[in-house]
Amino acid sequence: MSDQPREQWGTRAGFILAAIGSAVGLGNIWRFPAEAYRNGGGAFLLPYLIALLTAGLPLLIMEYTIGRRSRKSPPAAFRRLARPAQFIGWWQVTICFVIATYYALILAWAVRYVGFSVTQEWGGSAEDFLFAEFLQLGETPGELGGYVSGVFWPLLLVWAAVLVVLALGVRRGIEAATKVFIPLLVVFFGVLVVRAVTLDGASIGLDAFFTPDWGALTDGSVWVAAYGQIFFSLSVGFGIMVTYASYLGRRSDLTGSALVAGFANSSFEILAGIGVFATLGFLAASSGGAIGDVEGGVGLAFVAFPTIISQMPLGALFGVLFFLSLVIAGLTSLISIVQVIVSAVQDRSGMRRVPAVLSVGGAVALVSLLLYPTNGGLYLLDAADRFINQYGIALAAVVAVVTVAWVLRKLPELQRDADATSAVSLGRWWKLCLGVVTPIVLGWMLVDALSQELAENYAGYPTGFLLWAGWGVAAAALVVAVLIALLPWPGRTDGEPAEQVTREKGSR
Ligand code: ALA
Repeated sequence: MSDQPREQWGTRAGFILAAIGSAVGLGNIWRFPAEAYRNGGGAFLLPYLIALLTAGLPLLIMEYTIGRRSRKSPPAAFRRLARPAQFIGWWQVTICFVIATYYALILAWAVRYVGFSVTQEWGGSAEDFLFAEFLQLGETPGELGGYVSGVFWPLLLVWAAVLVVLALGVRRGIEAATKVFIPLLVVFFGVLVVRAVTLDGASIGLDAFFTPDWGALTDGSVWVAAYGQIFFSLSVGFGIMVTYASYLGRRSDLTGSALVAGFANSSFEILAGIGVFATLGFLAASSGGAIGDVEGGVGLAFVAFPTIISQMPLGALFGVLFFLSLVIAGLTSLISIVQVIVSAVQDRSGMRRVPAVLSVGGAVALVSLLLYPTNGGLYLLDAADRFINQYGIALAAVVAVVTVAWVLRKLPELQRDADATSAVSLGRWWKLCLGVVTPIVLGWMLVDALSQELAENYAGYPTGFLLWAGWGVAAAALVVAVLIALLPWPGRTDGEPAEQVTREKGSR
């Protein structure tokens, strides 16, 4: 293990911006509006806010505290809590590996669609253009087929950008990039939302978004969806916030930073909901229909939006801003996901940053470039995304919370740690939320998801395909993590308390 001093964020604002950059991503722009619409419209906001307060923020504060006290990436940070717990950290690392490979693909599509918006390349049918011409989607899930060069090159560009930022380091790379990207995103998205709400028919969309279906609150799956959205969107449960907090100074305010990052993320999310629904209202008004079922993900961004762009005044500008926003929001999230893997390998091997970025980041990029820009890439993405979210992030989060709260009984110690440097003190609610509410809700989420999975194949995919691309990927993430955790941990700092290992300068 090397004795290189740990990098640090330049300023507290830099750290908070990076945390917001990680949280605000594809999940905010395309996942939230569709989830809200499907789960009771305006009434979804209530479970959503309850999920933020009872699970999202408490978990965020726990992850910040674990990262800051150990000043290590997730495997070493969990190892500091108790040696066997390191597998949880490695599990988060392998989950990030899987997510990074396909998250980059969506960014690559968005990069191409910035250009397509100018020429409105999709012509009369955005759907045919996406699947047949641009993605050249094959017939059979599981068959990779040939390479699609129109996807390969932008994907290579995305990976080059991510690796350059990471190679520059925490302060000169991630922090500097976020300081440019986040203000840009706020401006672009602000313009988009103002334009969207002033479109003809915007009120039809906003009515659909905000009209509450109170009956939905009695439906358990609405609550499950709200908690699921909060975890994905806040980037909690997959090691990112432990990693980012590990570059904090010992005296930084944790609880305050978590509150700022959490509320900023949710504000952006609700703004995205307003923008997306106002735009869909325009489509409904111009086609004389009502707001139809909002497809999440691919359908919303790459079919519904292009259709609208073709119909609206100044559509090209609107399209460029929309897809650029998607690229910027996604890039800062992808950078944070890959950073988890790079820093875990650095902590484990003592490798320096640039070789670690080139070898580890390069390996993630290689897998992504080999598998996804193919005729079968979209099917792989869809299956991996579904299963790694449910049986990766959510399952690892339950295991982490139960281990910290009940097996190791570390919550009081962590609370003292957080309170010692934070302006806002955590009350008993924090332990109650983490020890009781979060495990129950996450456990319930998993049982609910599993029963759906067993009742019918996800998206109607063949069982053989789901066995390797879905279940197989999720199981491999856990098995590889356990195997790495069983290897001997090299280095003389093994087991020393964090306070003695690092000497830091105390930035706030
Ligand atoms: N939190 C990130 C997102 O919302 C992963 O996309």
